[in-house]
Amino acid sequence: MSNKLCYRINPFLRFHWSSRPYDSDELSSVVYTAADAEDGQKVTRVELFHVLHAVAGGLPYDELKDVIRTELSVNGKIAANVLDMLLERGFIIPAESEFFDRTREWYEKEWHHALFYHTATRNVDHIEEVGDQGDAVSATITKFQNESDPPPLTAEVSGPKLTLPDPGQLPDTPLIDVLKSRGTSRSFSGSISSATISTLLHYTSKNAQDHREHIQSSSSDPLRRVVSSYVAHDIYPVILNGDDLQNGIYHYEAEEHRLTILEKGNFEDEIIDIAIGQQWVGEAAVVFLFVTNFERYQWQYRHSDELRNLFVDVSALAHRLILTATALDKCNFLTPAMRDDHVEEFLNLTPPKEGATYLVAVGEE
Ligand SMILES: Cc1cc2nc3c(=O)[nH]c(=O)nc-3n(C[C@H](O)[C@H](O)[C@H](O)COP(=O)(O)O)c2cc1C
Repeated sequence: MSNKLCYRINPFLRFHWSSRPYDSDELSSVVYTAADAEDGQKVTRVELFHVLHAVAGGLPYDELKDVIRTELSVNGKIAANVLDMLLERGFIIPAESEFFDRTREWYEKEWHHALFYHTATRNVDHIEEVGDQGDAVSATITKFQNESDPPPLTAEVSGPKLTLPDPGQLPDTPLIDVLKSRGTSRSFSGSISSATISTLLHYTSKNAQDHREHIQSSSSDPLRRVVSSYVAHDIYPVILNGDDLQNGIYHYEAEEHRLTILEKGNFEDEIIDIAIGQQWVGEAAVVFLFVTNFERYQWQYRHSDELRNLFVDVSALAHRLILTATALDKCNFLTPAMRDDHVEEFLNLTPPKEGATYLVAVGEE
């Protein structure tokens, strides 16, 4: 080994602590070292964490060997063996490695959490890909069904119920014309009627509701659960300027096409803060907060990359709302950028089972 090269901790290291020892009485953790989180390595000696900490800023081989000698109270030969093992397994890498250089930008731009997530969720096994598709999926979901009941497909909220008027027809405008007129608005005026809210929510949630009914109409049929798009999200309309509906926070229940009144009042200031200070969101007639219930997907999709799908899924759902609003000649604004903790408090959510994922504001020009 060259004395001149510096080594540093692998930026992909993540420690998953467990109070339950895996296979010994010693302190135990799984260390994810590379792109594939399945390739976890076990570290059972707590002193090794001191070594990894020492190498965070980069150290030459010999100095690193001295740290190991001191921390582990071993002789030079054993320290060299330990160090070689750490290098071989990728816990420690050359500071100037191409690999590290390629990740540097992510670190310098504060994207380090995203780097790990992006890399660790690139290639995972999906039940849909295993062997004979239908049989494998069916067997897997049956196993999950035998273990536990799936979570409810709609948030269970309490409060007075308010049935919405029947949704109106959408105008006979060709989709291409709706797409051409779609655009982000950053100024709003005017109020909104319950009839418009009804039409917006109906066309936004129609497929979600079809999927929920498909799953629930034969809940013991495991394959029904595969039709899962849109079902993980709840919609909370926050009416800021209602015509015939009082301003306040509501939850939408597609099955009954009704709202639950969570709290009446004027919440412009709260909504502006939730939208990280974007003032025009407070001028909208109604702001729809999309909340994703992660538990609903975790029950059947047991791999982290499903979070990617959920973000795409909620965007598709939100865009149904945006296009419906455009077809109805309403202005809209969208953003997934919110103060998550404020939404959780505002809607009385249960983090991290569920969380805010999208905001769409609708109003007049
Ligand atoms: C994922 C996403 C996040 C966005 N977040 C914001 C935002 O926080 N603030 C904002 O003013 N616009 C936001 N926008 C709107 C874009 O800036 C806008 O869509 C873009 O300027 C294109 O304009 P158009 O929507 O009129 O076609 C967001 C758009 C997307 C797709």
